[in-house]
Amino acid sequence: MEPQYTSLVQILKEKLDTCKTENELLKIKADFLGKNGLITKEFANIRDALDKKYTGQQLNLLKTQAETLIKDSLSKILNSQIYDNAIDVSLPGRNISNGTRHPISLTINNISNIFRGYGFRIEQGNEIETEFYNFEALNIPPNHPARDMHDTFYIDTKKLLRTHTSSVQIHSMMRTGAPIKIIAPGKVYRCDSDPTHSPMFHQLEGLYIDKEINFCHLKGILEKFIADYFQKRIETRFRPSYFPFTEPSAELDIKFRGEWLEVLGCGMVHDNVLKNVGINTKQYSGFAFGLGIERFAMLKFDIRDLRSFYENDMSFLKQFRGLS
Ligand code: DAH
Repeated sequence: MEPQYTSLVQILKEKLDTCKTENELLKIKADFLGKNGLITKEFANIRDALDKKYTGQQLNLLKTQAETLIKDSLSKILNSQIYDNAIDVSLPGRNISNGTRHPISLTINNISNIFRGYGFRIEQGNEIETEFYNFEALNIPPNHPARDMHDTFYIDTKKLLRTHTSSVQIHSMMRTGAPIKIIAPGKVYRCDSDPTHSPMFHQLEGLYIDKEINFCHLKGILEKFIADYFQKRIETRFRPSYFPFTEPSAELDIKFRGEWLEVLGCGMVHDNVLKNVGINTKQYSGFAFGLGIERFAMLKFDIRDLRSFYENDMSFLKQFRGLS
C-alpha cells in the first residue's frame, strides 16, 4: 500500500486503541469515513492521480481495511459492555411461586372423595352430547323448555353442549347395566349469564341402582354427605319437586345462616329411564341426584359473586393456597 495510506491506517489504529465507548468510536468512524473524513477526501484526489486505476484500487483497499478495523473495535467494546453487565452469581435467586388449586377443582376433589368413601365410582362423560343422551333417554319430552335453542347451545341439529351431567347416567347404565354406583363431575353449559349464572358451570351427578334401593337410602346418603362436606351437623329438608327423569323427585334444602337454601335435585330414577337403558325395573331400583359445584364452593368459602371463579384474579386465587 502507498506509504501515505499506511500511515493513515496507523493513525486510525492508534485512535481505536485508546477508544473506550461506542460514541467515541462513531466519532472516529466519521473522522475517517464520514462525508468530510480523511479517507473520503482521498477519493476526491483520484482525478489528479497519475494512475487513476491503481490509486482507486489502493484507496478501496484502504477503505476496506479501515472498515474492518472499526467493526472489530466495535465488537470489542460491545463485548466488554456485556462483561460489565454480567450476572452477579452471588445474588440470591428469584423465587418461582407455585400454582394453587382452583376452588372449583378443590370442591370437585373434596366432594368426589366423600362419595368415594361411600363406595361410589367416578365416571367421566362427554361435554358434547346428542339429544338422545341429554334429553330423550332421560324422559325429557320434545316440547320441554330445556330443549329450546334459548336454553341450550346446539352445535348442529344433532349435537349440543350438555346442559347437565345427568347424560352420564345414560352412558354408564348402557355400558355396565345394573348394579351401578357412580358419581360424575364435570362442566355443563346453558345460555345464561348474570351474577349468579354463568354459561359454563360445573355439576356433580350421582347414581345408585341396585336391588331394593329406596328413598331412605337416598335421604341417608345425602344427609350424611351434607354433614361430611360442611363438617358439622346441618339441618336439612327434602321438598317435593319435579324432574322428568325421577319419580318421586325432591329438592334438598339446607339451613344456612338461618335461611333455607336449595342445594341439589334428586329422586328415585324414573322407570322410563331404566327401561330406556334396558334395566329390569322389577329387579332393580335406585336414586339419582345432581348438584352445582359452584354453589357448594360459594357456601364453603363464603364467595358472593359466581364470576370470581372465572376471572383469573391472582389475589383471589392465591387465597386457596395450601388447600388440597
Ligand atoms: N339435572 C338436573 C339439573 O340440571 C339436576 C338433577 C335433578 C339431577 C334431579 C338428578 C336428579 O340426577 O335426580 O337441574
